Amino acid sequence: MKIVMVGSGYVGLVSGACFADFGHDVVCVDKQASKIEALNRGEIPIFEPGLADLVRSNAAAGRLSFTTDLAGPVADADAVFIAVGTPSRRGDGFADLSYVYAAAREIAQALSGYTVIVTKSTVPVGTGDEVERIVRELRPDAEFAVVSNPEFLREGAAIEDFKRPDRIVIGAEEERAQNVMADIYRPLYLNSAPILNTSRRTAELTKYAANAFLATKITFINEMADLCEQVGANVQDVARGMGLDNRIGSKFLHAGPGYGGSCFPKDTLALIKTAQDYGTPSRIVEAVASVNDQRKRAMGRKVIAACGGSVRGKTVAVLGLTFKPNTDDMRDAPSLAIVAALQDGGAEIRAFDPEGMEQAKAALPAEVRYCSDAYDCVTGADAVVIVTEWNIFRALDLGRVKNLMKEPVLVDLRNVYRAEQVRAQGFRYADIGRGIVSPASKTKDHAA
Ligand SMILES: NC(=O)c1ccc[n+]([C@@H]2O[C@H](COP(=O)([O-])OP(=O)(O)OC[C@H]3O[C@@H](n4cnc5c(N)ncnc54)[C@H](O)[C@@H]3O)[C@@H](O)[C@H]2O)c1
Repeated sequence: MKIVMVGSGYVGLVSGACFADFGHDVVCVDKQASKIEALNRGEIPIFEPGLADLVRSNAAAGRLSFTTDLAGPVADADAVFIAVGTPSRRGDGFADLSYVYAAAREIAQALSGYTVIVTKSTVPVGTGDEVERIVRELRPDAEFAVVSNPEFLREGAAIEDFKRPDRIVIGAEEERAQNVMADIYRPLYLNSAPILNTSRRTAELTKYAANAFLATKITFINEMADLCEQVGANVQDVARGMGLDNRIGSKFLHAGPGYGGSCFPKDTLALIKTAQDYGTPSRIVEAVASVNDQRKRAMGRKVIAACGGSVRGKTVAVLGLTFKPNTDDMRDAPSLAIVAALQDGGAEIRAFDPEGMEQAKAALPAEVRYCSDAYDCVTGADAVVIVTEWNIFRALDLGRVKNLMKEPVLVDLRNVYRAEQVRAQGFRYADIGRGIVSPASKTKDHAA
Protein backbone atom coordinates (compact mmCIF):
# COMPACT_ATOMS: atom_id res chain seq x y z
CA MET A 1 0.00 0.00 0.00
CA LYS A 2 1.11 3.57 -0.60
CA ILE A 3 0.75 5.62 2.55
CA VAL A 4 1.33 9.29 3.34
CA MET A 5 1.67 10.55 6.91
CA VAL A 6 0.86 14.23 7.19
CA GLY A 7 2.73 15.38 10.30
CA SER A 8 6.00 13.70 11.29
CA GLY A 9 5.98 14.21 15.06
CA TYR A 10 5.79 11.55 17.77
CA VAL A 11 2.78 9.84 16.21
CA GLY A 12 3.40 10.46 12.52
CA LEU A 13 7.04 9.40 12.57
CA VAL A 14 6.50 6.30 14.70
CA SER A 15 3.42 5.21 12.74
CA GLY A 16 5.11 5.95 9.41
CA ALA A 17 8.24 3.99 10.34
CA CYS A 18 6.17 1.06 11.64
CA PHE A 19 3.95 0.97 8.53
CA ALA A 20 7.12 0.96 6.40
CA ASP A 21 8.43 -1.88 8.54
CA PHE A 22 5.24 -3.81 7.70
CA GLY A 23 6.30 -3.50 4.05
CA HIS A 24 4.22 -0.53 2.92
CA ASP A 25 5.63 2.44 0.94
CA VAL A 26 5.47 5.41 3.28
CA VAL A 27 6.14 9.08 2.74
CA CYS A 28 6.27 11.24 5.90
CA VAL A 29 5.41 14.87 5.26
CA ASP A 30 5.96 17.78 7.60
CA LYS A 31 5.64 21.52 7.33
CA GLN A 32 8.80 22.09 9.35
CA ALA A 33 11.58 22.04 6.78
CA SER A 34 14.26 21.68 9.48
CA LYS A 35 12.64 18.46 10.72
CA ILE A 36 12.50 16.98 7.23
CA GLU A 37 16.09 18.02 6.48
CA ALA A 38 17.23 16.35 9.72
CA LEU A 39 15.32 13.16 8.87
CA ASN A 40 16.84 13.13 5.40
CA ARG A 41 20.29 13.34 7.03
CA GLY A 42 19.38 10.33 9.16
CA GLU A 43 18.87 12.38 12.33
CA ILE A 44 15.81 11.69 14.49
CA PRO A 45 14.25 14.88 15.84
CA ILE A 46 12.70 13.24 18.92
CA PHE A 47 13.92 10.80 21.55
CA GLU A 48 12.02 7.52 21.32
CA PRO A 49 13.73 4.21 22.10
CA GLY A 50 14.34 2.09 18.96
CA LEU A 51 13.05 4.73 16.55
CA ALA A 52 16.40 5.71 15.05
CA ASP A 53 17.18 2.14 13.94
CA LEU A 54 13.67 1.60 12.59
CA VAL A 55 13.75 4.81 10.57
CA ARG A 56 17.23 4.21 9.20
CA SER A 57 16.63 0.60 8.17
CA ASN A 58 13.36 1.36 6.41
CA ALA A 59 14.74 4.48 4.74
CA ALA A 60 17.72 2.43 3.54
CA ALA A 61 15.33 -0.21 2.17
CA GLY A 62 13.58 2.53 0.16
CA ARG A 63 10.23 2.12 1.91
CA LEU A 64 10.35 5.31 3.98
CA SER A 65 11.04 8.85 2.78
CA PHE A 66 10.58 12.41 4.04
CA THR A 67 9.44 15.54 2.31
CA THR A 68 7.81 18.91 2.81
CA ASP A 69 5.90 18.44 -0.45
CA LEU A 70 2.47 17.02 0.29
CA ALA A 71 0.92 17.17 -3.17
CA GLY A 72 3.06 14.66 -5.09
CA PRO A 73 2.86 11.78 -2.57
CA VAL A 74 -0.85 12.36 -1.84
CA ALA A 75 -1.72 12.05 -5.53
CA ASP A 76 -0.18 8.55 -5.53
CA ALA A 77 -1.48 7.39 -2.14
CA ASP A 78 -4.02 4.72 -1.21
CA ALA A 79 -4.30 6.25 2.26
CA VAL A 80 -3.33 9.61 3.72
CA PHE A 81 -3.04 9.77 7.51
CA ILE A 82 -3.48 13.07 9.31
CA ALA A 83 -1.13 13.01 12.33
CA VAL A 84 -0.81 16.72 13.08
CA GLY A 85 -1.09 18.25 16.54
CA THR A 86 -4.41 19.00 18.24
CA PRO A 87 -3.29 21.14 21.21
CA SER A 88 -5.65 22.85 23.63
CA ARG A 89 -7.21 25.96 22.18
CA ARG A 90 -6.51 29.12 24.15
CA GLY A 91 -9.51 30.31 26.10
CA ASP A 92 -11.82 27.32 26.31
CA GLY A 93 -9.53 24.28 26.31
CA PHE A 94 -11.25 22.67 23.32
CA ALA A 95 -9.00 20.93 20.78
CA ASP A 96 -7.45 23.36 18.32
CA LEU A 97 -8.41 21.74 15.03
CA SER A 98 -6.86 24.34 12.78
CA TYR A 99 -3.91 22.07 11.87
CA VAL A 100 -6.24 19.19 11.04
CA TYR A 101 -8.47 21.32 8.84
CA ALA A 102 -5.48 22.97 7.13
CA ALA A 103 -4.09 19.50 6.38
CA ALA A 104 -7.51 18.42 5.05
CA ARG A 105 -7.57 21.38 2.66
CA GLU A 106 -4.07 20.64 1.38
CA ILE A 107 -4.88 16.96 0.94
CA ALA A 108 -8.10 17.78 -0.90
CA GLN A 109 -6.25 19.82 -3.53
CA ALA A 110 -3.92 16.92 -4.27
CA LEU A 111 -6.31 13.94 -4.33
CA SER A 112 -6.23 11.69 -7.36
CA GLY A 113 -8.08 8.36 -7.59
CA TYR A 114 -9.82 6.67 -4.64
CA THR A 115 -8.05 7.70 -1.42
CA VAL A 116 -8.81 7.01 2.21
CA ILE A 117 -8.15 10.02 4.44
CA VAL A 118 -7.47 8.72 7.93
CA THR A 119 -7.54 10.90 11.04
CA LYS A 120 -4.94 9.57 13.43
CA SER A 121 -4.72 12.77 15.42
CA THR A 122 -6.90 12.77 18.52
CA VAL A 123 -9.95 14.74 17.43
CA PRO A 124 -13.34 15.47 19.01
CA VAL A 125 -16.49 13.75 17.87
CA GLY A 126 -17.69 15.13 14.56
CA THR A 127 -14.26 16.21 13.27
CA GLY A 128 -14.36 13.48 10.62
CA ASP A 129 -17.68 14.90 9.40
CA GLU A 130 -16.09 18.33 9.08
CA VAL A 131 -13.00 16.96 7.31
CA GLU A 132 -15.32 15.21 4.86
CA ARG A 133 -17.29 18.42 4.30
CA ILE A 134 -14.10 20.45 3.69
CA VAL A 135 -12.70 17.97 1.19
CA ARG A 136 -16.04 17.54 -0.60
CA GLU A 137 -16.47 21.32 -0.90
CA LEU A 138 -13.00 21.80 -2.38
CA ARG A 139 -13.08 18.71 -4.55
CA PRO A 140 -16.64 17.71 -5.47
CA ASP A 141 -15.13 15.39 -8.10
CA ALA A 142 -12.83 13.45 -5.74
CA GLU A 143 -13.32 9.82 -4.77
CA PHE A 144 -12.45 9.52 -1.09
CA ALA A 145 -13.57 8.33 2.33
CA VAL A 146 -12.75 9.81 5.73
CA VAL A 147 -11.92 7.29 8.45
CA SER A 148 -11.07 7.69 12.13
CA ASN A 149 -8.19 5.54 13.39
CA PRO A 150 -7.13 6.97 16.76
CA GLU A 151 -3.65 6.17 18.01
CA PHE A 152 -3.06 4.68 21.45
CA LEU A 153 0.74 4.45 21.51
CA ARG A 154 2.62 5.64 24.59
CA GLU A 155 5.74 7.75 24.21
CA GLY A 156 8.71 5.80 25.53
CA ALA A 157 7.20 2.48 24.37
CA ALA A 158 5.75 3.73 21.10
CA ILE A 159 7.14 1.15 18.69
CA GLU A 160 6.18 -1.81 20.85
CA ASP A 161 2.71 -0.30 21.33
CA PHE A 162 2.27 0.30 17.61
CA LYS A 163 3.42 -3.16 16.61
CA ARG A 164 1.69 -5.02 19.43
CA PRO A 165 -1.36 -2.90 20.17
CA ASP A 166 -3.99 -3.89 22.72
CA ARG A 167 -6.49 -3.05 19.99
CA ILE A 168 -6.90 -1.15 16.74
CA VAL A 169 -10.00 1.02 16.43
CA ILE A 170 -11.24 1.78 12.93
CA GLY A 171 -14.20 4.08 12.44
CA ALA A 172 -15.20 3.76 8.80
CA GLU A 173 -18.57 4.43 7.25
CA GLU A 174 -18.06 2.43 4.06
CA GLU A 175 -16.81 -1.06 3.23
CA ARG A 176 -14.33 0.04 0.58
CA ALA A 177 -12.48 2.18 3.12
CA GLN A 178 -12.63 -0.61 5.70
CA ASN A 179 -10.94 -2.91 3.17
CA VAL A 180 -8.10 -0.42 2.59
CA MET A 181 -7.61 -0.17 6.37
CA ALA A 182 -7.66 -3.97 6.63
CA ASP A 183 -4.87 -4.17 4.04
CA ILE A 184 -2.81 -1.58 5.89
CA TYR A 185 -3.12 -3.37 9.22
CA ARG A 186 -2.99 -6.92 7.80
CA PRO A 187 0.42 -7.68 9.37
CA LEU A 188 -1.17 -7.00 12.76
CA TYR A 189 -4.26 -9.11 11.99
CA LEU A 190 -1.82 -11.99 11.64
CA ASN A 191 -0.60 -11.28 15.19
CA SER A 192 -4.29 -11.39 16.19
CA ALA A 193 -4.46 -7.82 17.45
CA PRO A 194 -8.15 -7.16 18.19
CA ILE A 195 -9.65 -4.89 15.54
CA LEU A 196 -12.74 -2.91 16.43
CA ASN A 197 -14.72 -1.72 13.46
CA THR A 198 -17.00 1.06 14.61
CA SER A 199 -18.74 4.13 13.28
CA ARG A 200 -16.49 7.14 12.76
CA ARG A 201 -17.99 9.08 15.66
CA THR A 202 -17.65 6.08 17.97
CA ALA A 203 -13.96 5.73 17.12
CA GLU A 204 -13.36 9.41 17.79
CA LEU A 205 -15.04 9.24 21.18
CA THR A 206 -13.37 5.95 22.16
CA LYS A 207 -9.96 7.63 22.20
CA TYR A 208 -11.12 10.40 24.54
CA ALA A 209 -13.01 7.98 26.77
CA ALA A 210 -9.89 5.80 27.12
CA ASN A 211 -7.60 8.72 27.96
CA ALA A 212 -10.07 10.28 30.37
CA PHE A 213 -10.48 6.95 32.15
CA LEU A 214 -6.72 6.50 32.54
CA ALA A 215 -6.40 10.07 33.81
CA THR A 216 -9.16 9.28 36.30
CA LYS A 217 -7.32 6.21 37.55
CA ILE A 218 -4.15 8.22 38.16
CA THR A 219 -6.03 11.03 39.84
CA PHE A 220 -7.94 8.60 42.04
CA ILE A 221 -4.80 6.95 43.39
CA ASN A 222 -3.22 10.36 43.90
CA GLU A 223 -6.17 11.35 46.04
CA MET A 224 -5.84 8.10 47.98
CA ALA A 225 -2.15 8.93 48.47
CA ASP A 226 -3.09 12.22 50.12
CA LEU A 227 -5.48 10.33 52.38
CA CYS A 228 -2.78 7.76 53.16
CA GLU A 229 -0.50 10.55 54.33
CA GLN A 230 -3.16 11.76 56.73
CA VAL A 231 -4.19 8.38 58.12
CA GLY A 232 -0.77 6.73 58.18
CA ALA A 233 -1.37 4.16 55.43
CA ASN A 234 0.82 3.12 52.50
CA VAL A 235 -0.57 3.98 49.07
CA GLN A 236 1.63 1.46 47.29
CA ASP A 237 0.07 -1.32 49.33
CA VAL A 238 -3.39 0.15 48.79
CA ALA A 239 -2.74 0.24 45.03
CA ARG A 240 -1.50 -3.33 45.05
CA GLY A 241 -4.49 -4.45 47.05
CA MET A 242 -6.77 -2.74 44.54
CA GLY A 243 -4.87 -3.66 41.40
CA LEU A 244 -4.77 -7.39 42.05
CA ASP A 245 -8.52 -7.32 41.53
CA ASN A 246 -8.86 -8.21 37.83
CA ARG A 247 -11.77 -5.85 37.49
CA ILE A 248 -9.47 -2.96 38.43
CA GLY A 249 -6.01 -3.95 37.18
CA SER A 250 -2.70 -2.69 38.52
CA LYS A 251 -1.70 -0.27 35.76
CA PHE A 252 -2.02 3.49 36.20
CA LEU A 253 -2.26 3.14 39.96
CA HIS A 254 1.10 4.73 40.77
CA ALA A 255 0.74 7.78 42.96
CA GLY A 256 2.85 10.72 41.86
CA PRO A 257 2.91 14.43 41.12
CA GLY A 258 -0.09 14.38 38.76
CA TYR A 259 -0.44 13.41 35.13
CA GLY A 260 1.07 15.53 32.38
CA GLY A 261 2.25 15.01 28.83
CA SER A 262 1.00 15.76 25.38
CA CYS A 263 -2.29 13.87 25.70
CA PHE A 264 -4.10 13.53 29.05
CA PRO A 265 -4.27 17.23 30.00
CA LYS A 266 -5.51 18.43 26.62
CA ASP A 267 -7.72 15.42 25.93
CA THR A 268 -9.55 15.63 29.25
CA LEU A 269 -10.20 19.35 28.61
CA ALA A 270 -11.47 18.68 25.09
CA LEU A 271 -13.78 15.92 26.33
CA ILE A 272 -15.14 18.20 29.05
CA LYS A 273 -15.95 20.82 26.40
CA THR A 274 -17.59 18.30 24.07
CA ALA A 275 -19.72 16.91 26.89
CA GLN A 276 -20.81 20.43 27.87
CA ASP A 277 -21.61 21.34 24.26
CA TYR A 278 -23.86 18.29 23.92
CA GLY A 279 -25.66 19.07 27.19
CA THR A 280 -24.27 16.07 29.10
CA PRO A 281 -21.47 17.54 31.22
CA SER A 282 -18.97 15.05 32.57
CA ARG A 283 -18.69 15.93 36.25
CA ILE A 284 -16.18 13.14 36.79
CA VAL A 285 -13.74 14.30 34.12
CA GLU A 286 -14.19 17.92 35.21
CA ALA A 287 -13.20 16.94 38.75
CA VAL A 288 -10.23 14.90 37.49
CA ALA A 289 -8.83 17.80 35.43
CA SER A 290 -9.24 20.29 38.25
CA VAL A 291 -7.81 17.99 40.97
CA ASN A 292 -4.83 17.17 38.77
CA ASP A 293 -4.15 20.82 38.01
CA GLN A 294 -4.09 21.74 41.67
CA ARG A 295 -1.91 18.77 42.49
CA LYS A 296 1.03 19.83 40.37
CA ARG A 297 1.37 23.13 42.19
CA ALA A 298 0.74 21.40 45.51
CA MET A 299 3.88 19.37 44.81
CA GLY A 300 5.82 22.63 44.92
CA ARG A 301 4.33 23.29 48.37
CA LYS A 302 5.33 19.79 49.42
CA VAL A 303 8.95 20.57 48.59
CA ILE A 304 8.72 23.88 50.43
CA ALA A 305 7.33 22.09 53.50
CA ALA A 306 10.17 19.55 53.33
CA CYS A 307 12.59 22.49 53.35
CA GLY A 308 11.13 23.73 56.63
CA GLY A 309 8.45 26.04 55.22
CA SER A 310 10.48 28.30 52.95
CA VAL A 311 12.79 27.98 49.95
CA ARG A 312 13.65 31.66 49.75
CA GLY A 313 17.34 31.94 48.95
CA LYS A 314 17.68 28.15 48.86
CA THR A 315 18.79 25.97 45.96
CA VAL A 316 16.58 23.09 44.86
CA ALA A 317 17.93 20.36 42.58
CA VAL A 318 15.28 18.93 40.25
CA LEU A 319 15.98 15.46 38.86
CA GLY A 320 13.84 14.66 35.83
CA LEU A 321 11.97 17.26 33.79
CA THR A 322 10.09 15.33 31.09
CA PHE A 323 6.52 14.28 31.84
CA LYS A 324 7.65 10.66 32.09
CA PRO A 325 10.85 8.66 31.51
CA ASN A 326 12.08 7.54 28.07
CA THR A 327 10.84 10.57 26.20
CA ASP A 328 12.13 14.09 25.66
CA ASP A 329 8.57 15.47 25.65
CA MET A 330 8.05 18.41 28.00
CA ARG A 331 4.45 19.20 27.04
CA ASP A 332 2.44 19.85 30.22
CA ALA A 333 5.11 18.10 32.31
CA PRO A 334 4.50 18.37 36.09
CA SER A 335 8.03 19.80 36.37
CA LEU A 336 6.80 23.02 34.74
CA ALA A 337 4.34 23.78 37.54
CA ILE A 338 6.67 22.51 40.26
CA VAL A 339 9.61 24.63 39.10
CA ALA A 340 7.32 27.67 38.80
CA ALA A 341 5.98 27.17 42.35
CA LEU A 342 9.52 26.84 43.73
CA GLN A 343 10.76 29.89 41.84
CA ASP A 344 7.73 31.84 43.08
CA GLY A 345 8.81 30.83 46.57
CA GLY A 346 12.25 32.33 45.96
CA ALA A 347 14.26 29.18 45.16
CA GLU A 348 17.17 28.86 42.76
CA ILE A 349 16.65 25.84 40.51
CA ARG A 350 19.32 23.44 39.30
CA ALA A 351 18.01 20.76 36.95
CA PHE A 352 19.04 17.64 35.12
CA ASP A 353 17.19 15.35 32.72
CA PRO A 354 18.83 12.59 30.67
CA GLU A 355 17.01 13.40 27.40
CA GLY A 356 14.74 16.39 27.93
CA MET A 357 17.19 19.26 28.50
CA GLU A 358 16.87 20.82 25.05
CA GLN A 359 13.08 20.81 25.14
CA ALA A 360 13.15 21.94 28.78
CA LYS A 361 15.21 24.99 27.90
CA ALA A 362 12.41 26.13 25.61
CA ALA A 363 9.69 25.41 28.17
CA LEU A 364 11.18 26.56 31.49
CA PRO A 365 12.23 30.08 32.56
CA ALA A 366 15.73 31.17 31.62
CA GLU A 367 16.90 31.30 35.26
CA VAL A 368 17.03 27.49 35.58
CA ARG A 369 20.60 26.23 35.78
CA TYR A 370 21.09 23.03 33.72
CA CYS A 371 23.58 20.47 35.00
CA SER A 372 25.62 17.73 33.41
CA ASP A 373 24.40 14.84 35.55
CA ALA A 374 22.53 14.02 38.76
CA TYR A 375 25.56 14.55 41.01
CA ASP A 376 26.43 17.88 39.42
CA CYS A 377 22.78 18.84 39.90
CA VAL A 378 22.67 18.15 43.66
CA THR A 379 25.97 19.91 44.36
CA GLY A 380 25.40 22.66 46.92
CA ALA A 381 21.62 22.11 46.94
CA ASP A 382 19.40 22.55 49.99
CA ALA A 383 16.98 19.92 48.69
CA VAL A 384 16.71 17.46 45.83
CA VAL A 385 13.40 16.52 44.20
CA ILE A 386 12.88 13.47 42.01
CA VAL A 387 10.18 14.55 39.57
CA THR A 388 10.58 11.97 36.78
CA GLU A 389 11.50 8.35 37.50
CA TRP A 390 14.28 7.82 34.94
CA ASN A 391 16.10 4.58 35.73
CA ILE A 392 19.36 6.39 36.46
CA PHE A 393 17.69 8.13 39.41
CA ARG A 394 16.62 4.83 40.95
CA ALA A 395 20.05 3.78 42.13
CA LEU A 396 21.87 6.98 43.03
CA ASP A 397 24.84 6.72 45.35
CA LEU A 398 22.99 8.35 48.24
CA GLY A 399 26.13 8.74 50.35
CA ARG A 400 27.73 10.72 47.54
CA VAL A 401 24.55 12.74 47.01
CA LYS A 402 24.45 13.65 50.70
CA ASN A 403 28.09 14.70 50.74
CA LEU A 404 27.56 16.97 47.75
CA MET A 405 24.45 18.65 49.14
CA LYS A 406 24.31 21.59 51.51
CA GLU A 407 21.29 20.12 53.30
CA PRO A 408 20.29 16.44 53.04
CA VAL A 409 16.64 16.81 52.01
CA LEU A 410 15.20 14.36 49.46
CA VAL A 411 11.67 14.73 48.11
CA ASP A 412 10.75 11.62 46.14
CA LEU A 413 7.64 12.41 44.08
CA ARG A 414 7.80 8.97 42.39
CA ASN A 415 8.38 6.78 45.43
CA VAL A 416 11.49 5.22 43.91
CA TYR A 417 13.32 4.90 47.25
CA ARG A 418 12.46 3.24 50.52
CA ALA A 419 12.05 5.64 53.38
CA GLU A 420 14.14 3.60 55.86
CA GLN A 421 16.99 3.27 53.37
CA VAL A 422 17.13 7.01 52.69
CA ARG A 423 16.67 8.06 56.31
CA ALA A 424 19.40 5.64 57.35
CA GLN A 425 21.75 7.68 55.15
CA GLY A 426 20.87 10.76 57.18
CA PHE A 427 18.40 12.38 54.79
CA ARG A 428 15.19 14.13 55.67
CA TYR A 429 12.86 12.33 53.28
CA ALA A 430 9.38 13.02 51.93
CA ASP A 431 7.52 10.75 49.55
CA ILE A 432 4.00 10.32 48.20
CA GLY A 433 1.39 8.62 50.34
CA ARG A 434 3.51 6.19 52.31
CA GLY A 435 2.64 7.28 55.80
CA ILE A 436 3.55 3.89 57.22
CA VAL A 437 6.01 1.48 55.67
CA SER A 438 4.34 -1.87 56.17
CA PRO A 439 6.34 -5.09 56.68
CA ALA A 440 5.43 -6.27 53.16
CA SER A 441 6.80 -3.12 51.58
CA LYS A 442 10.19 -3.83 53.09
CA THR A 443 10.46 -6.78 50.75
CA LYS A 444 10.50 -6.96 46.97
CA ASP A 445 7.68 -4.56 46.10
CA HIS A 446 9.40 -1.40 47.10
CA ALA A 447 13.00 -2.18 46.45
CA ALA A 448 14.67 0.85 44.94
N1 LIG B 1 2.31 11.98 21.41
C1 LIG B 1 1.59 10.95 21.79
O1 LIG B 1 1.97 10.17 22.65
C2 LIG B 1 0.25 10.70 21.16
C3 LIG B 1 -0.38 9.44 21.34
C4 LIG B 1 -1.61 9.22 20.73
C5 LIG B 1 -2.21 10.23 19.99
N2 LIG B 1 -1.60 11.44 19.85
C6 LIG B 1 -2.25 12.45 19.03
O2 LIG B 1 -1.61 12.48 17.75
C7 LIG B 1 -1.59 13.82 17.25
C8 LIG B 1 -0.17 14.23 16.94
O3 LIG B 1 0.56 14.25 18.15
P1 LIG B 1 2.15 14.35 18.19
O4 LIG B 1 2.55 14.17 19.59
O5 LIG B 1 2.73 13.44 17.15
O6 LIG B 1 2.33 15.89 17.72
P2 LIG B 1 3.67 16.62 17.29
O7 LIG B 1 3.48 18.04 17.61
O8 LIG B 1 4.87 15.88 17.79
O9 LIG B 1 3.69 16.46 15.69
C9 LIG B 1 2.82 17.11 14.82
C10 LIG B 1 3.59 17.45 13.55
O10 LIG B 1 2.66 17.88 12.55
C11 LIG B 1 3.31 18.87 11.75
N3 LIG B 1 2.27 19.58 10.99
C12 LIG B 1 1.31 20.42 11.44
N4 LIG B 1 0.52 20.83 10.41
C13 LIG B 1 1.00 20.22 9.30
C14 LIG B 1 0.61 20.22 7.94
N5 LIG B 1 -0.44 20.92 7.49
N6 LIG B 1 1.33 19.49 7.06
C15 LIG B 1 2.40 18.78 7.48
N7 LIG B 1 2.79 18.71 8.76
C16 LIG B 1 2.12 19.43 9.66
C17 LIG B 1 4.06 19.70 12.77
O11 LIG B 1 5.09 20.43 12.16
C18 LIG B 1 4.59 18.60 13.72
O12 LIG B 1 5.88 18.15 13.31
C19 LIG B 1 -2.28 14.68 18.31
O13 LIG B 1 -3.64 14.80 17.99
C20 LIG B 1 -2.13 13.86 19.57
O14 LIG B 1 -3.14 14.11 20.49
C21 LIG B 1 -0.38 11.69 20.40
